[in-house]
Amino acid sequence: MTDDRERWNEKYSTDEEFELPDDPIPELARRIETLPSGRALDVATGTGRNARFLAAEGYEVDAVDVSDEALDRAANAAADDGVAVNWIRADIDDFEFEAGAYDVVTVSFFAALDRLPDLKEALAPGGMLVYEHHLRSSDDIDIGPSDDRYKFRANDLLRACLDLTILGYEERTRPDEKGRTQAVATLVGRKSTGGAQSYPRLS
Ligand SMILES: C[S@@+](CC[C@H](N)C(=O)[O-])C[C@H]1O[C@@H](n2cnc3c(N)ncnc32)[C@H](O)[C@@H]1O
Repeated sequence: MTDDRERWNEKYSTDEEFELPDDPIPELARRIETLPSGRALDVATGTGRNARFLAAEGYEVDAVDVSDEALDRAANAAADDGVAVNWIRADIDDFEFEAGAYDVVTVSFFAALDRLPDLKEALAPGGMLVYEHHLRSSDDIDIGPSDDRYKFRANDLLRACLDLTILGYEERTRPDEKGRTQAVATLVGRKSTGGAQSYPRLS
């Protein structure tokens, strides 16, 4: 058993205060009509909120997490929702992403800067990356990892994705679904090139 597998299985089993939201991250829901259809990958899926949402939207979804316990919960929730997801128990540290395979890749609240080159390679041409994660912040924050090591610095995520077409990038504080303040970076990037591209119409 890897450290992460053990640690996260224990967290899911024993930490009664640790509860992941059921809704997808807001940026994914906001952008869904503008994303290319096809295959999707949700990295460190947890209880599968993004994966289940994408499956309900008609995507063929692979969802990876290191924790057996998380994936059990995700699979039960998917059965309740009546959607099918390919749940994959694996460690992202050594997972082999399929190159050029995914029209949408989502990562939420998981620090994977070191795997970003492979995640970008896993995007099909025109594929979109939607990534949201905690920021280090001097504000009064109620939620996020206690250790700054697991949070991004200002512009970390943006800098790592400058070879994509950046359709959205924001760093801010906001209330989470329980009203707790969090500091987050949200990036939407497309694997596309060229000085004159097509851009989504957003309300
Ligand atoms: C804070 S949760 C976020 C879950 C989900 N993305 C969400 O936003 O609801 C982080 C998830 O990362 C998973 N995780 C941690 N280390 C991992 C690793 N090395 N490989 C794959 N998953 C990992 C944990 O099991 C946990 O489900």
